[in-house]
Amino acid sequence: MAKILANDGIDKSGKDLLEKAGHTVITDKVAQADLINYVNANNIEVILVRSATTVRKDLFDACPSVKMVGRGGVGMDNIDVEYGRSKGVDVFNTPGASSQSVAELTMGHLFSLARFLHDSNKHMHANGTTQFEVLKKKYAKGFELRGKTLGIIGFGRIGQSLASYALGCGMNVIANDHHEHEVTVDVHVGSQKIPVKIQTTNFEHTIKNSDFISIHVPKQKDGGAVIGAKELAMMKKGVVLVNSARGGVIDETELLNALNSGQVAAAGLDVFEKEPTPRADLLAHPNICLTPHIGASTNEAQDRIGVEIAERIIKHYSAVKV
Ligand code: 3PG
Repeated sequence: MAKILANDGIDKSGKDLLEKAGHTVITDKVAQADLINYVNANNIEVILVRSATTVRKDLFDACPSVKMVGRGGVGMDNIDVEYGRSKGVDVFNTPGASSQSVAELTMGHLFSLARFLHDSNKHMHANGTTQFEVLKKKYAKGFELRGKTLGIIGFGRIGQSLASYALGCGMNVIANDHHEHEVTVDVHVGSQKIPVKIQTTNFEHTIKNSDFISIHVPKQKDGGAVIGAKELAMMKKGVVLVNSARGGVIDETELLNALNSGQVAAAGLDVFEKEPTPRADLLAHPNICLTPHIGASTNEAQDRIGVEIAERIIKHYSAVKV
C-alpha cells in the first residue's frame, strides 16, 4: 500500500476512501524547498497537489519512489506533466469535478460587478451609518445581466457550464474555442434540462461583440497573455471582464490601463500573475472585484475531487497487486 503526501490537502471523503483501502495519507504541508528531501526520506509514492505546490523536473529526477502525481483540480501548469509521464509516472488531474463551482463563482463576479457589491459592501461596513444617502447615490448606476451578451473565451467544461448559468439568467452567449464546433449546453430550469445549441465563433468576433467577457483557457505555454492592449482596444467601450482561469492570461498592467481609461468598466479577478502575493495596485482598484483563487473551493467540488483522486489511486494499486 502507498504512502501518499497530499501537500495541498485532500477532502475528508477522499482521505477516508484511501485509508479504508489501506493507504497512508499524510496531510502535513511540506515547504516547497524541503519537498524532495521529505519525499525521499519518507518513501512517498503518491504526491497530491492543488495549485500551490509545484512538481518540476528536479523532483521527478530526484525521487524514484514516486509512482503517481495527482492534481486535485484542472490546471496543471504547476507540474512538468510530460516530463513526469516520460519517466513512467502516472500524472493526472480531475478535469470535470470543479466546473460548476468555477462557473458559479464567475456568475458571482458578474452580479457583483453589475451592482458594485464588492465596493458597496466595503463602504457600507465603514460608513453605512453616517453616509447612507451618499452611498445610495454612488451605487445608483447599476445594470442588469438579462439581455446582455456574455463572450466566453475557452469553451471547454468550465466555459460550457458558465454558458448554462448565463443562458439561464437570460443572457445571450457567444463563445470562442481553439477550434470551431457546435456544443449543446443544458440549461437547468427546475428539474428540467433545456438543450441550447451554441456554435463557437472566432476570437475577434467574440471580443468585439460582448458586453461581458469571461476567459477560461489554461496558462499559455510561453506564459503570455491572451488578452493584452490590442485585444482590450478591440472590445466594446465599458466592457466588463472576468478572469477565474489563470493569472496572466489577461495582462494585468494593460488591464489597469484600460480600467483607468474607461475602456474596461470593471473586472472580476480570482487569479493573479503573482500568487500568493498579487500586486497591490490591482488589490486597491475600486473597479475590481477580488477573490483569492477560490473558484474550485466549494465543499461539493472538493468532495468530488477527493473521491475521484482516491478511486484513481485505489484502481492503480489494485491493478499493480494483480
Ligand atoms: C484549478 O485549476 O483547478 C483551479 O484553479 C483551482 O485551483 P486550486 O485547487 O489551487 O484551488
